[in-house]
Amino acid sequence: MSQMPPSTPPVVSTIAAIREIVVRAKAAGRRVGLVPTMGALHAGHLSLVEASRRECGLTVVTIFVNPTQFGPHEDFAKYPRTLEADLEKLAGMGVEAVFAPTSQQMYPEGFSTYVDPPEVARPWEGVARPGHFRGVTTVVLKLFNAAPADAAYFGHKDYQQSAVIRRMVEDFNVPIEIRVMPTVREPDGLAMSSRNVYLSLDERRRALSLFQSLKLAEQLVGQGERDAALIRRRMCQTLEAGGVDSIDYATIVDPENLAELNRIEGPAIALIAARAGKTRLIDNLLLTASEEA
Ligand code: PAF
Repeated sequence: MSQMPPSTPPVVSTIAAIREIVVRAKAAGRRVGLVPTMGALHAGHLSLVEASRRECGLTVVTIFVNPTQFGPHEDFAKYPRTLEADLEKLAGMGVEAVFAPTSQQMYPEGFSTYVDPPEVARPWEGVARPGHFRGVTTVVLKLFNAAPADAAYFGHKDYQQSAVIRRMVEDFNVPIEIRVMPTVREPDGLAMSSRNVYLSLDERRRALSLFQSLKLAEQLVGQGERDAALIRRRMCQTLEAGGVDSIDYATIVDPENLAELNRIEGPAIALIAARAGKTRLIDNLLLTASEEA
């Protein structure tokens, strides 16, 4: 007997429709999990869906390539849009609905209110991508209002983004729990990203130096090195030797406020943004300085 393939989740495109699904589920006592994405789904996104399925009674995925978070010279036009393939990947995962609005639905004629992002949005990505977090916070707040879930799931790979969203939710008293889930990596360590599809084979090989550089930072801290400037230099050397084409930053920061550290006395985040070819990649790793090292 042939088995039916699992069916793809229903797609809704209006704010009214997704809100009704969420509000009804909550009224029925179900915890609702929201997984905001820009599509081009990979194993990292699917791990967020799995986390939501574990922790919530109903899971909604959003797919929207948000124009306001891309700079004028960034990849908005060429960003992969793969709705059919995304739905296939979600088939059988227990997703109640996919919210895939049009730009017109999210930013209708006359739209003119934006979130002024918190302090933690200023350094790093804030410098390299002016306006990016204004677009991210604005769309995320809109998604939280459209689909007023109990919890929302984000990836650790976009570390600064999750810090910015956590702060916004706290500052604006948004009643939603922010869950940040571990980065999913390819077997060789490359962090999963929708932008990895841009990489040629050679760029893909060179992009690995981001992970190598983060692992070096981890190893140095594990050996007792506490001088963050020295570790930063070694991270940059590893990136350069690995053949990245440019480095926006390779740094060690405080996990809460993302301020650059001089010494590593407790938890710290090694944070990198670099280009392989024209593709800009970001990655990070939590470093823990153990007492005895
Ligand atoms: O991380 C992303 O994919 C996007 O920045 C997000 C959170 C879906 C907002 O557009």
